[in-house]
Amino acid sequence: MPKSIAFIDDLLSRMTLAEKIGQLNLVTPGGETLTGTVVNTDVADKIKTGRIGAIFGVKSAEAVRVFQDLAAQSRLKIPLMFAEDVIHGQKTIFPLPLALAASWDMKLVEETARIAAVEASSIGIDQVYAPMVDVCREPRWGRIAESPGEDPVLASRYAEAMVRGFQGSDLSAPTSVMACLKHYVGYGGAVGGRDYDAVDMSPATLHDIYLPPFAAGVKAGAGSVMAAFNTLNGTPMHANATLIQRVLRQGLGFRGLVVADYTGVQELIAHAVAGDKAEAARLALKAGVDCDMVAEAYLDTLGASVAAGLIDEAEIDAACRRVLEAKADLGLFDDPYHRITWGRATQSVLTEANRAVARQAVAAASVLLKNEHDLLPLGKKGRIALIGALADDRVNMNGTWAVSGSPSTVVPILEGLREAAAGAAEILHAKGANIVDDRVLAARLNVHDWKDLSVVIDDRTAEEMLAEAVDLAGQSDVVVAVVGEAREYSGESSSRIDLLIPEPQKKLIRALKAVGKPLVVVVMTGRPLALTEEAELADALLVAWFGGTEIGHGLADVLFGAQSPTGRLPATFPYAVGQVPVTYAHLPTGRPFPGRFQKFTSGYVDMPDEVPHNDGLFPFGFGLTYAPVAYGPPRVDKVALAGDDDRLTVSVSVTNMGKRPTAEVVQLYVHDLKASVSRPVKQLKGFSKVALEPGESAEVSFTLLAGDLAFSVATSVDDLTRIREAGDYDIHVGRSSRDTQHVRISWN
Ligand code: NOJ
Repeated sequence: MPKSIAFIDDLLSRMTLAEKIGQLNLVTPGGETLTGTVVNTDVADKIKTGRIGAIFGVKSAEAVRVFQDLAAQSRLKIPLMFAEDVIHGQKTIFPLPLALAASWDMKLVEETARIAAVEASSIGIDQVYAPMVDVCREPRWGRIAESPGEDPVLASRYAEAMVRGFQGSDLSAPTSVMACLKHYVGYGGAVGGRDYDAVDMSPATLHDIYLPPFAAGVKAGAGSVMAAFNTLNGTPMHANATLIQRVLRQGLGFRGLVVADYTGVQELIAHAVAGDKAEAARLALKAGVDCDMVAEAYLDTLGASVAAGLIDEAEIDAACRRVLEAKADLGLFDDPYHRITWGRATQSVLTEANRAVARQAVAAASVLLKNEHDLLPLGKKGRIALIGALADDRVNMNGTWAVSGSPSTVVPILEGLREAAAGAAEILHAKGANIVDDRVLAARLNVHDWKDLSVVIDDRTAEEMLAEAVDLAGQSDVVVAVVGEAREYSGESSSRIDLLIPEPQKKLIRALKAVGKPLVVVVMTGRPLALTEEAELADALLVAWFGGTEIGHGLADVLFGAQSPTGRLPATFPYAVGQVPVTYAHLPTGRPFPGRFQKFTSGYVDMPDEVPHNDGLFPFGFGLTYAPVAYGPPRVDKVALAGDDDRLTVSVSVTNMGKRPTAEVVQLYVHDLKASVSRPVKQLKGFSKVALEPGESAEVSFTLLAGDLAFSVATSVDDLTRIREAGDYDIHVGRSSRDTQHVRISWN
């Protein structure tokens, strides 16, 4: 039973000021997989003397026990809370968050979070720094890999599913972990896609695009939130009282814990809003940041600030209370060791059942962008040339932010394909090209690799590697090129200035194309790429993201047709880097684009007319499958609605016209035809992924509420009104943001 308020009141009343400040100190002792450059020292001593409240980055049940034993030696024996970056799996690594969002399957997303919770809690993790719910329309930003993509509705459903999966129905259960929604807020809008850079956006955009996933996660019961590194309209989020106290706590009703990001409190000095550590600590505490991660600015300075009358002790009490409440909710006061019951770790991690979900997630997340003459799925016959550095790789497959995932447990693609084709088809393999040839870039991409390198430059020349690949391709019936990014090309501080597949691999694709055999290109990536050339050259083009532990089996399922790829793009894939930021949900312009020879209209002079200039090469929501699905016309239960309590039912029937089972992501969009402010040309309002056997039809229905048509009118971030305007709306239903049918309604 989680401890009561009276218990916490009593405990607080017995704590010294130093002990209360100690509870706000969140540290990492460092270790193999660092997630920042600074680590804390004298950790054991600080724990024993009540100067640490929580730890992250501890990697085993044994180590958790050692630290918790130290806390038991402190005066009040307040248990530590253990946190970790469990972003897309703990030991069983699932496809990247962006890829999980691409599944549009929220049951699956929840299941991955549940498995991650069971695995993480078995080594004593109480809190996970996930889900990351930063909406992002800027693929240069490497952290788009961790994000659910460009759309607030998809991101909100994802946030809820993740929170449910992590926290379960009872946070105090030994297999539940506390979710942490991050990064609050606007981080995905970093200017130029440069990590940690400034964010400038209108209050309405903040409320309508970037805040909804946080609101949804809070509503789903998330126990904690992490502040973002960025400034928002000039104020760093770690000092942003308006957004934390007014909008998050008062506005969204969040009652849980707000943690800083890594040295985020100290960074207020670099942001040039604080002159020293003490001022940074005061600003952050007053803004509502309860725990100071790594910087120890609270630990070192808050006592003196109270003594000097610059901070009221009540402010420290409030933050400390939230830490104690979190620990109580997690059941830590009842038994600080309950998550690390002996032996559970070995029984819970990387089980066959967990791996099976990871395998299934690969097909669910993979997005098929092109499939000429139904080249995919491949028959299990003849010779298949599997080419590419990433085709026989374990180190990159987990992608970014898999701090506890081990390459040794990964099934490489080559292994998966050979296993699936055993006795039926021969799989030949050649590397063909380095991931990148530039040694400086390779060294940068390997910077976090403490054991296995993700980019290994071959001893052979580029020509030798290419010749071997071309030779194998010539001997084969079909060529599968696995190309793309190294895992560290995306993720934290891994922004890019272009969005192309690295040049050595582009050359490889061109050379393979010249061989003349049917060419499948499989792309591993943590971000939307500009796949313009590959879309021309490949006969089939499949985005497999970074698929995690079971990539080899999962991709074999897709390539040989045991599973249809049923992912849909969660973010626009642009034509070229110059098109970003880009979203399907753009506003109309006063000068719509009819074609580039029409001067004085809104487009690019150096982009072909065939690609919409204000939308990508491959639009949001797009993805093919192995079975064509036919849509009936969208139907509505009425065309004239009135008032805030009215509701609209929208239905459509979809039929699998093919010979294989598939799943269709039916998408509902709305377009407000005329409003007091310009409204997006389309906005996602609902979606449903339905499994369809060959010949099977399904009736899909959505309910649209008046509130779904509302938007924010705001003069500042904490002064806004949601309004719904009477008028006409087009209700679109379809298979992607670009391919819809619509009915017109009026809603007064
Ligand atoms: C910095 C990252 O921004 C955040 O997402 C992560 O949780 C922390 N480091 C801790 O590793």
